[in-house]
Amino acid sequence: MHNIIRRSLLSRMLTINSDDHSFSNAKKLVVSIGNNPDIAEGVVCALRDGGIPHNKLVSTIETLAGRWEVGEDNGLQDLVASVKQEIDKRLGKPMISFTVVPPKGRIKDHGLLVKAYIGMSIADIVQYGSDKQQLSDYIECACSGVMACSTCHVIIDEQWMDTVDSPEEAEQDMLDLAYGAGPNSRLGCQLTLSIRHNGMIIHIPEGVNNIMDNIPFKG
Ligand code: FES
Repeated sequence: MHNIIRRSLLSRMLTINSDDHSFSNAKKLVVSIGNNPDIAEGVVCALRDGGIPHNKLVSTIETLAGRWEVGEDNGLQDLVASVKQEIDKRLGKPMISFTVVPPKGRIKDHGLLVKAYIGMSIADIVQYGSDKQQLSDYIECACSGVMACSTCHVIIDEQWMDTVDSPEEAEQDMLDLAYGAGPNSRLGCQLTLSIRHNGMIIHIPEGVNNIMDNIPFKG
């Protein structure tokens, strides 16, 4: 009798260990794709709580990630986006709103009202913000925020210039290559929102240079 109980306990312990192992491997995989450990944990928990068995977590993430090294994605980014939003909400971060004025002729009204949590950059909103759909029509963020494309170039409204810091050297180098850049230009991926930006107005330039493609084009 004792042997049966011992075997059952042993088998249960092995299952728990193997579940832990699968969970940890799945988490490592999400981190290796460029996410921080908190996001990775949230992603794996969401999949597990959604009914994916432990031994299928890694393969599910591989499928969702697709050939992420070449920019492909089969749904992982959307999952990462909702986990990020959920984490911000749980942290109780204040939300602000600001207005994005598209280039003349590209929209009928005066601008888009965009909402975001403080601590997000403009590029974060384009990638996973609740208003990413609207904003991504005007801002591309082709390099995902590593200052290699200039497609996130925005122009700060003159009245709001005292709420933004001067660009650092690396940002300025990229701005020098941006389409139509001027003194009020900033890279959206380097502009982190704070409470000071509540109500801010930013303008979208008339054109875009995607330095990654090395092919300037007019937007
Ligand atoms: Fe590429 Fe900002 S997203 S430079």
